[in-house]
Amino acid sequence: MEELVKVISAEFSNNALTYDNLGRFVRSAKNKIPNYHDDLPDIKSKDKYSRRILCMEPLECVLLRWPPEVESAVHFHDGFWGYVWVLDGICENVEYKIKDGKMFITSQLYARKGGVIDEPDGTIHLIRNPSKDKELITCHFYYPALETLDGLKVYDLESGKIGTLNDKAATASFLEPDDHFRDLEEGAFVYQTMLEAMPTQTHRMCPVLPKPSSEEIKSMIGAYYAEQASQYDLFDLSHHSRKQYVQKINQLIAEKVKGLEQIDKALAIACGTGRRAAKIRELSERAYDITCVDISEEMCCQATERNVRSIAGDWLRVNVGDDIFDVTTFLYAFGHIPFEEERIAALKKIHKHMSDGGLLFIDVFNQEDQNEWGPKAVRRFESDHLEGFGYDKGDLFYRKADGHALSFLHYFTREEMVSLLEKTGFEVIDVYNIGYVKRSGEVLDGKDERGSLFFVARKVRQ
Ligand SMILES: [Fe+2]
Repeated sequence: MEELVKVISAEFSNNALTYDNLGRFVRSAKNKIPNYHDDLPDIKSKDKYSRRILCMEPLECVLLRWPPEVESAVHFHDGFWGYVWVLDGICENVEYKIKDGKMFITSQLYARKGGVIDEPDGTIHLIRNPSKDKELITCHFYYPALETLDGLKVYDLESGKIGTLNDKAATASFLEPDDHFRDLEEGAFVYQTMLEAMPTQTHRMCPVLPKPSSEEIKSMIGAYYAEQASQYDLFDLSHHSRKQYVQKINQLIAEKVKGLEQIDKALAIACGTGRRAAKIRELSERAYDITCVDISEEMCCQATERNVRSIAGDWLRVNVGDDIFDVTTFLYAFGHIPFEEERIAALKKIHKHMSDGGLLFIDVFNQEDQNEWGPKAVRRFESDHLEGFGYDKGDLFYRKADGHALSFLHYFTREEMVSLLEKTGFEVIDVYNIGYVKRSGEVLDGKDERGSLFFVARKVRQ
């Protein structure tokens, strides 16, 4: 770490020490993890993090070691700012806001090895090691350097207590003894859970830095859907806007299928429990075989009860033999594919297994739908410097407000999807904007009002 301290001194003897400059410096260092092992502080208690100050000039640089499940108290950056650079393990950052005596979460993210967390002046947040068995090692950069924690405000969410630490405190935590506080104010605020503060927001964004590998993202998505497989159809049906949206797309597909000259076989990728595939067949009044593919074995088990053939696995990996399909649906799931090269591979594989002139139906969330997360995902892409952490514009991670597992979605532009379809041998016949959150299930004009994007494409011979 000595080398790192020298680099910091050299960097900021030439460049002004501003919040932005420090951010650029830390983010550019992100994967050049120094050898920190000899500098690690000893763990004094399994309930507290330990720290070792590496330097105090020209800024404070401190190495922290977090036992499993240890967290800082919620604390207030009043007049100091900095960054947390994750050297090993997983670091969860939760930001809060106090308004009218109520405290609630405003944002959350996970940073892994090489990830960087921003701590601007004015932030109220906590840092946590969410792992049950692994340590977290972080390197923190602060300006101005804090000689002691004297004056730092910490918040106890359970009791609504605000404590102001004095110069005896070693950690930003309520585990410090009472004489390490300058002041303790009981019942200063009431903490509201995410669902209490924003009951209509059933899902929350939660970036993961750097963007995990494809395999990691797929296993996260698998766990996310496994967490809710038993209630999935129920959620789909009880969620009013989603129900209208799904019904409209089912109906549009069924009309097109009804008008086809010939249909023997249909492929439903990411079919969930097969409910929609079976419904579309019923609405189309045509008889044909359905092959369902879904990553979740549990969903596939439920699908087989609906008179369809089902295969459990990732579309890119499953073997569907020599089957050729006249219709393919890829509904409500294409955006779960983590990277563009895999989206292209998925479309090429679909192309290979379709009859000439066969129809592909595919819907995605629209990056430009103001009623959905797309524009916010684009803003965070810029503000959180996500490109440097392997993100594409439109990528986001999220979780259910009352769940733990994370999922991934990519929000598309219309042009991006048209380009993907054309480069993989499809001709786009129709593009619909279908209202999702607002005017659910209505076909919108796509200019003044935008909804999710639904594409009808035809396989062209290549
Ligand atoms: Fe902090």
